[in-house]
Amino acid sequence: MRKKISVIGAGHVGAATAFRIVEKELGDVVLLDIVEGMAKGKGLDILEGGPAGRYDTAIIGSSSYAETANSDVIVITSGIPRKPGMSRDDLVSTNFEIVKSVTERVIEHSPEAMLLVVTNPLDAMVYTAFKVSGFPKHRVFGMAGALDTTRFRKFISMELGVSVENIQALVLGGHGDTMVPIARCATISGIPLSHFLPQDRIDAIIERTRKGGGEIVNYLKTGSAYYAPSLAISEMVESIVKDKKKIIPSAAYLEGEYGIHDLFFGVPVKLGAKGIEEIIEIELTDKEQEAIKKSEASVRTVVNLLQF
Ligand code: NAI
Ligand code: 2OP
Repeated sequence: MRKKISVIGAGHVGAATAFRIVEKELGDVVLLDIVEGMAKGKGLDILEGGPAGRYDTAIIGSSSYAETANSDVIVITSGIPRKPGMSRDDLVSTNFEIVKSVTERVIEHSPEAMLLVVTNPLDAMVYTAFKVSGFPKHRVFGMAGALDTTRFRKFISMELGVSVENIQALVLGGHGDTMVPIARCATISGIPLSHFLPQDRIDAIIERTRKGGGEIVNYLKTGSAYYAPSLAISEMVESIVKDKKKIIPSAAYLEGEYGIHDLFFGVPVKLGAKGIEEIIEIELTDKEQEAIKKSEASVRTVVNLLQF
């Protein structure tokens, strides 16, 4: 039997994600939005592409939560994106109310689902879904590191003129300007990045990665990135529904790992059929540890604004 995946929010990220999931035949999709008709229209559009796109997976658009019943995975993208001059954290009060109400509605119909949160400010919004749902921590996580890492990998590949497929990299921390790309762990076909590039070039790539989301907002003016995010989300969904057990940096609930308690924070996790099956804790240098502490403080400041 095919998996059922619901995508809440049929805006830029939600619609692109639904399309990716259906196109890759990861499962049947319910695309839901508060705006009547929009999800229905986009769902029908994606459905009708099946013969040309060679996918048999089904998709329906709806505004009714009953349609999402018994989902295996629920991707939450509902909420406002930022505009130029705004940080992700500026979205907190509006998106807190949206994520809270969406979580309450989806769990009524899918008490066994996994919740994959995308809405920003990411680390605080996944914390919201966790607290509101009461779900176990392995079934609630956020997408951020998958996106930040794909950006980091692409910038390295551009700098070196080599295939993206050769590049492995890791970004830890909160999904904001304090994120922590771990250049020491980046490799090109197993060869450390430092073999190819001097520190000042590596630093420039790290800086571009940290500001990658903002760079796109400044071009778009009316919203934020969605193509790369939809690919990053579908990579996570694929690892779950196919039980691939890929190690993907994701926002996970920490209870002492990396010295952090009671916070969602970007760390490498093994994603499989049970959700987060393992949190991988790597040793960090003093400098990396210091950057993690700064990122933790930044995430905590936003989480402390949440009023449950
Ligand atoms: P968008 O504005 O295009 O779409 C948001 C959709 O949510 C709209 O269609 C809106 O009608 C819907 N919505 C609002 N309240 C709702 C509710 N109560 N129930 C159901 N639907 C509701 O925005 P976009 O570009 O799709 O971004 C969505 C969110 O994802 C933003 O918060 C953005 O910052 C975040 N984001 C996070 C990323 C990450 O790496 N974690 C990457 C990209 C975006
Ligand atoms: C990004 O990094 C919007 O958070 C999103 O592009």
